[in-house]
Amino acid sequence: MAHAALVVAAGKGERAGGTVPKQFADLGGRPLLRWSLEAFAAHPAIGPICVVADPAHADLVRAVAGDIAVTLAPGGATRTASVRAGMTALAPAAPETVLIHDAARPGLTAPIIDALLAELRAADGAAPGLPVVDALKRTDGGAIVDDAPRAGLVRIQTPQAFRYARFAAALAQAPEDAAFDDDIALARAAGLSTRVVSGDPRLMKVTYPEDFAQARQLLAPGAPPTLPLAGSGYDAHRFGPGDHVTLCGVAIPHTHGLVGHSDADAAWHALTDALLGAIGAGDIGDHFPPTDPRWRGAPSGVFLRHAADLVAQAGARIVNVDVTVICERPRVKPHREAMRAATAELLGLPLARVSVKATTTEGMGFTGREEGLAAQASVSILAPESPDVR
Ligand code: CTP
Ligand code: MG
Repeated sequence: MAHAALVVAAGKGERAGGTVPKQFADLGGRPLLRWSLEAFAAHPAIGPICVVADPAHADLVRAVAGDIAVTLAPGGATRTASVRAGMTALAPAAPETVLIHDAARPGLTAPIIDALLAELRAADGAAPGLPVVDALKRTDGGAIVDDAPRAGLVRIQTPQAFRYARFAAALAQAPEDAAFDDDIALARAAGLSTRVVSGDPRLMKVTYPEDFAQARQLLAPGAPPTLPLAGSGYDAHRFGPGDHVTLCGVAIPHTHGLVGHSDADAAWHALTDALLGAIGAGDIGDHFPPTDPRWRGAPSGVFLRHAADLVAQAGARIVNVDVTVICERPRVKPHREAMRAATAELLGLPLARVSVKATTTEGMGFTGREEGLAAQASVSILAPESPDVR
């Protein structure tokens, strides 16, 4: 069942000012709303996208969405009312999950979506949060009257993800004119279990005029990522009927083929898992379930490209990759340079940063008995520093 996105864009943007409500204002060449729509549309797990907006802005929303398919719902007087309208519009799609997101937060990334979806395995709702670093005080007309402990406090962002049916039931329970600070508050009022995942400074909400400059700076490619991370991956496939195996996208003639749901390219599968591992984004099966008929016979370059895209969306860059194929036959060495070249081209890396090696297990084990072959991969990447809230 699909995961739906619900983007609320029906506010007046009074604090931000400007000639159009902030969600339609430009940020680095794209309207604010467009940033979130692109992030949702680019994520393979996200299905229907609903935008809640003032009906007077329907044409504007369609123009901003352009090639991205969205359904429109009419905005309400409060954010909660707008969320209610979007939930109603999504009901016919009966999604498993809904990710409710402020159009005013342009810095949505795929890893945030992944983390939220993963967290819903353990809870009814999940939201990104960042630790509070400043000391907190209660004030009364300029006088500081109390110290507020900040231990355990987080600043909550959006998207806020919920099991759709549970959240719909919570909404139905809330008074028609209820106005909650956020959707987690509404869910909690109905007794739903909610959890926090690590947020992202880039998910800041554009509220005041000066926030546009800060958001532009945060979202501009520029500041080089500095946090070194590593990932490793492993995969094995059984030999079956066929006349070639595919390794690193290269067809290698052999007395057998490899059995698998996709093209069974164990080398690129291992590499895909290594990249996903480096950014903590689960494994290849999470992104491309073997039960999904779309991936039957799929070229594994699709998987690898997706993982590389996620790395890029996380603001990280690949430093180098190293793949080892483990088999007695076919002999890999004659194809090694072609495998390196195909991998380097797909990842946009110089050849020197891509290594492909092969080894046998001297007749031992399943590879030794030539029941199948295995591959392992390791990668290193440089990622942006991001605080962890747990
Ligand atoms: N929103 C909405 N419907 C409302 C109020 C807000 O869909 N009745 C949306 C806004 O468009 C925004 C998000 O909720 O994407 C967060 O709200 P906020 O930042 O307060 O935006 P505005 O209400 O537009 O701004 P302001 O309060 O300054 O007028
Ligand atoms: Mg508001």
